[in-house]
This record gives sequence, structure tokens and C-alpha cells, in this order.
Amino acid sequence: MHSTEIAAARTDWEAERQAADARARAEALAVPLDQIDVTKPRLFQDDSIGHYFARLRRDAPVHWHENAYYGGFWSVTRYNDIMAVDTNHAVFSSDWTNGGISLFDGPMDARLQMFIAMDPPKHDEQRKSVSPIVAPANLAALAGTIRQRTQAVLDSLPRNEPFDWVDKVSIELTTQMLATLFDFPFEERRLLTRWSDVATSVPGTDKITASPEARLAELGQCAAYFGKLWNQRVNAAPGPDLISMLAHSPATRNMSPQEFLGNILLLIVGGNDTTRNSMSGGVLALHQHPGEWAKLRANPALVDSLVPEIIRWQTPLPHMRRTALADAVIGGQQIRKGDKVVMWYLSGNRDESAIDNPEALVIDRPRPRQHLSFGFGIHRCVGNRLAELQLKILWEEILQRFPRIEVVGAPQRTLSNFVRGYTHLPVVIPA
Ligand code: HEM
Repeated sequence: MHSTEIAAARTDWEAERQAADARARAEALAVPLDQIDVTKPRLFQDDSIGHYFARLRRDAPVHWHENAYYGGFWSVTRYNDIMAVDTNHAVFSSDWTNGGISLFDGPMDARLQMFIAMDPPKHDEQRKSVSPIVAPANLAALAGTIRQRTQAVLDSLPRNEPFDWVDKVSIELTTQMLATLFDFPFEERRLLTRWSDVATSVPGTDKITASPEARLAELGQCAAYFGKLWNQRVNAAPGPDLISMLAHSPATRNMSPQEFLGNILLLIVGGNDTTRNSMSGGVLALHQHPGEWAKLRANPALVDSLVPEIIRWQTPLPHMRRTALADAVIGGQQIRKGDKVVMWYLSGNRDESAIDNPEALVIDRPRPRQHLSFGFGIHRCVGNRLAELQLKILWEEILQRFPRIEVVGAPQRTLSNFVRGYTHLPVVIPA
């Protein structure tokens, strides 16, 4: 592709994006408040959701909505109100028996039992079983492998011709990492990508799984595969991988089949979709903020604050749900015992009363780690430092090699209100 063709491709999709954005803003301002439903996956796929959150933050920051699929729930959209919920686990439960962390309750026997969806004390004990994977010494030991793999992937990319950054870089690097964390057969690592997509899919809505039965059947294959790995590890000496940690820890070695599958899926999804979409989101964000890209090239040390800023800007997991165990007041609204409460991290990360100029990517913010993307309180992301390390190395290596990465077509986004990400991101790296 010549530089003139790249420039034309870039202008075309950006002009369309700006026009669609203006239309979405007008629609979000016009719709009656009681009709705003921020769970619609389409709003995430066409990236118009931000306008609806801006409206709620302004007019109804703690907003009740009745939805045919999910039932009634509160949307909490301001930064400080989200913190108040997330740090109060005694009142706002994550436990699967109360409904868990997803909007959809589902029948009791179909709910996934994983420690993100448990309250203390069980949550704390199971979390401790896997936390050594992100101990500082282990991260230091992983850094060399991450750098080598990142270099190899970046060096294999085509120059001057379009390719999909999601598949060639983001999926490849996060899946390689996950295979290492599990000590999973490396050549079969794309199974992990597939199971991650299946776990977060909504059958019939997205194109990932055709029916609830098909989804369950694939998750059964995942459980059987991991069951074999578990049997190998449980009979061997304890090792430094996640399966061995679970197999040898007193808190997890006797898990029920439901807990086994639940925790495996938690670790697959936790380590996969999130970092993957930050890797793609960063490329898009810097493309849309050329001034920040210039700042970064002039001062590569800014990678340290670029990374948390990308994670804020992207917010790969837009929400977590809780259930009130007692009456409480949040943002002036009376929450009743039993109510479903949804913390919209994506909205809190765009709250102008907590973050200056929140819509923009600003790579030298004074306090870049002040964001909600990893949650807060006892469930705060276990893998946050690992994700930051992977992204830091990626951007250091990009800066060593590429003067620019141009996004040459509209990004295709995930049809989901739970994962905010990309299915395709067409880019060109000019020679
Ligand atoms: C929990 C986001 C990377 C494993 C969470 C939560 C969020 C989150 C929002 C729930 C917090 C809450 O409820 O308060 C992210 C983002 C990532 C990322 C944005 C990347 C940019 C990772 C990685 C791993 C991981 C790389 C594993 C290798 C987990 C686990 C939990 C968790 C196991 C459950 C923690 C608990 O319940 O105590 N993450 N995550 N995450 N994350 Fe991450």
C-alpha cells in the first residue's frame, strides 16, 4: 500500500465514524430516561454506548431499569458511587448463590462456580491458591519469555500491506502467555482462545455458539481436556503453573466439577479477552490521538504511564454485577435488600468529575493508575501486574521497530456488554 492509499483509507473510515458518533449522541440525548437500556450489546458493538452513559451520569447516575431478559437492576455510572459498591463486599455480594457477577441470573444448577463469584471466606482461600503466579519474582522470571515472544511476533508482521492486528498480535501473544501460565500444550493453544470466546458468548445473539446446548457441549470439552492435565499434575510434584497450584492447594484440590470448570474458565477469560483487547485498543487509541503518539516517540519512558492509560481508555470489562444483602443508599438512591446492582466501570472511567478530559487518551496523566478497569476491593484483578507487564513490553518493542501503525479500516467490535473488545482491526505498518 502506498502512503497516499493509506491516507485515503484512514480518512474514509474516520469520516464515517465521526458522522455516526454525532448521530448516536443526538439519539442518546433525545431518548426518555426510562427507555435507556445500557445492556444492549449493539450499543457496545457500534461504540455508541458512551453517549448513553454520559446521559445517565448527568441525569440519573444511579438508574433503575427493567429488562425483559435480565429483570430489574440498578446501573451505577459515577466513579465514586462505583467505588462505594465495589469496596463494600459485606453489603454487595458477588456470590453465585445470590446471582454472581453477571447480569443474567440463570438457573442455580447452570451458574458457574468460580472464586470471582464467591464471597469470603471461600473467595479469599481460593484466590490465595493461584496468587503466587503473579508474585514479583514470578513476573520477573516471565519477563524474558514475554519479550522474546513479543519480538518474534512483531518481527514476523508484514510491512506496507494490511493485516488484522487482533489475530496476528493480540490473540497470538495473549494465548501464548496463557498456555505458559497453565503449562498447556503449546501447539494446541488456540483451543484456549476458543474456550474463552465460548465462555463469554451469548448463544443465538453472537455468532460464537449456536445454542445453549452447543455452548455447554464445548465447555464440556474444555473440562475434559483440563481434567486430563489435572490428573497428570495432581500426581506429580507441585509445579509453578496454575493447574498445579490449584491441584496442590488445600483450598482447591477437592473442588466439585462445577468449581473446577468455573475456576478454569475464570483464569482463561481473565487472562485472555482483557489483555487481548487492551493490545488492540492501544493501537486504535494512539491512531486516534496522533499527538500522543508523537509525544511517546519523543519520550519512550512514557510507556510506563501509557499502559495504565490504555487500560482505562479501553476498559476491557465494562461491568461487574453485585446483589445487595441489605438496604443501602448509593448516590442518593435507596437500594433494597435483594436488588441487582451493576457497576459500569466503563462509565466510571469516563466520569468527568473524577478524571480530567476523560474521553481523550492522555499518555502523561499525573495519576494514570487512578481508573476502575481492574475493579476495587477484595476482587480487584489478580492479573493486573501481569497484564501491565505484557503491555509494557509490547509497546517498548513496538517503539523499537515501527514509526507508525495506521488503522486503515473501521474496527470490528465484539457484540457483548461484558467484554469490550475487537474482532478485527485492519492495520498497515508503513515500511
Ligand atoms: C478479576 C479486569 C487481566 C485474572 C478482574 C476484575 C476485573 C478484571 C474488572 C473484577 C474486579 C472486581 O470485581 O472488583 C482485568 C483487566 C485485565 C485483566 C482489565 C487486563 C487488562 C487479567 C489477567 C489475569 C486475570 C492477565 C490472569 C492471568 C483475574 C482473576 C480475577 C480477576 C482470577 C478474579 C479475582 C477475584 O475475584 O478475587 N479482572 N483483568 N485478569 N482477574 Fe483480571
